[in-house]
Amino acid sequence: MGRSEDKIRRLRAGTPLIHEESLEELLKDTLNKGAFIPSTNVSEAVRTSDVLFVCVGTPSRDDGSIDLSQVEAASKAIGLALKGSDQYKVVVVKSTVVPGTTDDVVVPTLERFSGKKVGVEFGVCMNPEFLREGRAVRDFLFPKETGIIIGELDRRSGDVLFQVYEGFDAEILRTNIRVAEMIKYARNAYLAKDVSFANEIANICQGLGVDYLAVKRGLEMDRRIGRGRFLDAGAGFGGSCFPKDVRALVAKAKEIGVEPKMLKATLEVNDIQPYRLVALAREALGDLKGKRVAVLGLAFKPGTDDMREAPSIAVVDSLLKEGADVVAYDPEALARAKEIFEDRIAYGGSCKEALDQADACVIVTEWPEFSDPQVYRAMNGKVVVDGRRVLDPAALGSDFTYVGIGLRKGFRR
Ligand code: UGA
Repeated sequence: MGRSEDKIRRLRAGTPLIHEESLEELLKDTLNKGAFIPSTNVSEAVRTSDVLFVCVGTPSRDDGSIDLSQVEAASKAIGLALKGSDQYKVVVVKSTVVPGTTDDVVVPTLERFSGKKVGVEFGVCMNPEFLREGRAVRDFLFPKETGIIIGELDRRSGDVLFQVYEGFDAEILRTNIRVAEMIKYARNAYLAKDVSFANEIANICQGLGVDYLAVKRGLEMDRRIGRGRFLDAGAGFGGSCFPKDVRALVAKAKEIGVEPKMLKATLEVNDIQPYRLVALAREALGDLKGKRVAVLGLAFKPGTDDMREAPSIAVVDSLLKEGADVVAYDPEALARAKEIFEDRIAYGGSCKEALDQADACVIVTEWPEFSDPQVYRAMNGKVVVDGRRVLDPAALGSDFTYVGIGLRKGFRR
C-alpha cells in the first residue's frame, strides 16, 4: 500500500494523521455525516465538486527556494480530470506559493492538461491559509483574527469562493492573485521578524541583567506595538511555515535583484537562538561533558506533535556534541523524536521520569505541565534553563539555579 492510500485508509477510519486539538471529533463527525469523503481518486473528487482546493506542500529546496513539484503534480492531475467535465469549477490554490506561481505555473498547467480556457471554462483563486498548528480547527472555524483573503482571477471565480466563506464571521478582502500570494509571505515574515526581534532584545537584556519579561510588558503597553504580538523570547521559531517561508521570500527577492537584509537577519538570529540555551546550561554547569541533561519539549511549539525545524533538534545535537547525556521528554512528540534522534538519546515517559537524576534541564517548548515547580524536585542537580520563561523561580526554591532566557547574567548557586 502506498503512503497516500495508507493515509486515506486511516482518515476513513477516523484517525487524524497529526495531533491537533478537536481534530478527531471533527473528523469523525464529518465522516459520519458524509460531509468528508477521503479518496485517492482525483477524477472522482473533481467530478463531484464545484470548488477544488490545492493544499499540497511547498517545501524548501537546498538553496532555500520553493519546491513546486507537488503543486505542479496536483495542477496536472486536476487539469486531466477537468478534461472530461463540462461544468464550470473553480480551482483554489491554498498552498503557500511565491507571487507569480498561480499565474505562471498553476494556470498554464491546468489549461494544458484540461484543454480548457481559464476564465471561460474554469475559474482560479488564490486563498492563503493562516491557521496555526495546535489550534488549527479553531482558527479555521473562527477566522476573525486573521480575516480571509480571496485572490481572484476574475469576478466570477471570486464570487464562487466568496460563497464558500459567506457564513464566516470575518472580514473578507478580495484582491488579485499576486497580492494574495504576497500577503501570505508578508504576514509570516512580519511575525517571524517579531520573534527574532524579541530574541535579540532578550539576549541583550540577559547580558545587561535586565528582565526581558518586564521589558516585554512595557513594549506591549505601547498601543503602536500592542499585545498579542509575537514577542515571546525563546529557542527561536520552528515549524513548517516561518523558516521555509522566510527562506523562500529571501530566495525570490534575490532572484529579482532585491537584497532582503531584514529577512536574512531574521533567519540569522533564529539560527543561533537554540545554541543560546545550550550556552546558558554550559555557563551554569561549567562543563556539559558526562552531565545528564533533560530536554523538556521537543515539538516546535505546544499543542502539536510536529517537529519540523523544531529548535529542540539543534539543542539536542549541540548538547550531544558537548558530551552531555541527553534524556528528552515531550507530551506528544516522542514518537517523532525517536525517528529523529533514534538511540543517540534516552527518552522519558513523563516529565518526572526525564528529570529523574538529571544534572540540569533545558525547557525548549512551553507545554503547560512544565510550569509545575514540584516535578523539578526529581532532579539530581538543580540547574534549570527555562528557555520559555514558564516557571516562577521563587516557586522553584532557593536550592535551584534558575536561568531564564532574557533574565539576567549572574546565576544563583
Ligand atoms: C504560523 C502562522 O502563525 C499562521 O498564521 C500560518 O498560517 C502558519 O504559520 C502557516 O504559514 O501555515 P505556526 O507555524 O503554526 O503558524 O505557529 P506560530 O504560532 O505562528 O509559531 C511559529 C513559531 O514561532 C513557533 O516555533 C513558536 O514557538 C515561535 N514563536 C511564536 C515564538 O518563539 N515567540 C512568539 O511570541 C510566537
